[in-house]
Amino acid sequence: MREVHIASTGLWIPEHKVSNDELIQSFNEYVDKYNEDNKDSINEGSIKALEHSSTEFVEKASGIKSRYVIEKKHLLDPNFMKPLIEPRDKNDLSILAEIGVNAAKDALDRANLQPKDIDAVIVSAANISRAYPAIAIEIQNELGIKGYAYDMMVACSSATFGISNAYSDIKTEKADTILVINPEITTAHNNYTDREAHFIFGDVAAATIVQGESNSPVKSRIISFKQSTVFSNNIRNEKGFINFIENKDYTRDELLFKQNGKKVFKDVCPLVAELISEHLSEEDLSHRDIKKFWLHQANLNMNNFILKRIVGDDEFNADKAPCVLDEFANTSSAGSLIAYHRHNDLKPGDKGIICSFGGGYSICSILVEK
Ligand code: COA
Repeated sequence: MREVHIASTGLWIPEHKVSNDELIQSFNEYVDKYNEDNKDSINEGSIKALEHSSTEFVEKASGIKSRYVIEKKHLLDPNFMKPLIEPRDKNDLSILAEIGVNAAKDALDRANLQPKDIDAVIVSAANISRAYPAIAIEIQNELGIKGYAYDMMVACSSATFGISNAYSDIKTEKADTILVINPEITTAHNNYTDREAHFIFGDVAAATIVQGESNSPVKSRIISFKQSTVFSNNIRNEKGFINFIENKDYTRDELLFKQNGKKVFKDVCPLVAELISEHLSEEDLSHRDIKKFWLHQANLNMNNFILKRIVGDDEFNADKAPCVLDEFANTSSAGSLIAYHRHNDLKPGDKGIICSFGGGYSICSILVEK
């Protein structure tokens, strides 16, 4: 059977960066205004006063220090509390396609490839802006790529599951070279008035070129995958096309991202550590054979916990699981790929693991060799 590679990865980063201090100042102004506007109901006890957020809490609880966003002014406006973008004409490139094309061009350049070398496009993201036509087909058209294209959604594991589909199509000789693109505008599904989640997310687009025979100077061979899904409501986004016909008037907050962060932490960490350990033992490898673990970027404490479970307390070294949360926050499915893209010092023969985990729950471990 032919070998399959990650030929390259690419990134698009929004121009606007928001620090914790900026975000928390706007949140706290929102809280003060809410409490003032509702002081009678709060005094009567019919509603609860909101509490301030704090930079110290956010950094300690998550490792996040800043995030990039597609629009900053309205997001930081305590009277608005979400980014605002102009709608686009259907004949213009959509926002997801535009940022996806930018990330794709970066990946193509790094692998010394042209759009004509691509046989298929998979757009895979936690949220996709419309049902059809597929964003992937829009990108295929924009770049002048022949072949096939489709969209898929697997929450924070969208990128790795997309790479898995590309791998299978290349192994079975349906295609030679596939572009997997993850446009993650997470700020459009986050609730910036929710104290426990307002700091979590950031926007980005990532792209991966998956290829059979590859001359890319930055390629890694994919050795194998291990995937698992376990149903849970602890990370949930209710928004969907059925909302329109449901006999219910949803509030804004009900159609945004929701999680029980503590439960997620407790459930997911052991599942991920177990899946990676099983993946290693199926390949007759020990954790000592792995140079880097590029883990999903949701929470630094989570990643340290998972790494400790795999390697043991004595051999724990945080540098083995590089962190990009401080700069990017949680960029959903793009997180583990940004870690791979930014912190990849593997020498020929070195092995690493890219591992996503998140909503569903969904987990995917990819074993690669430089
Ligand atoms: N600022 C200040 N204090 C805050 C706060 C904020 N923004 N948000 C919560 N707190 C307080 C709480 O009120 C609580 O106070 P108490 O102990 O007096 O009751 C305390 O901080 C701890 O809150 P908790 O929600 O238990 O924090 P945590 O340590 O679990 O961290 C998360 C919260 C969300 C950062 C963490 O649970 C997490 O990252 N979980 C995994 C999430 C994940 O992977 N999600 C996947 C998404 S795709």
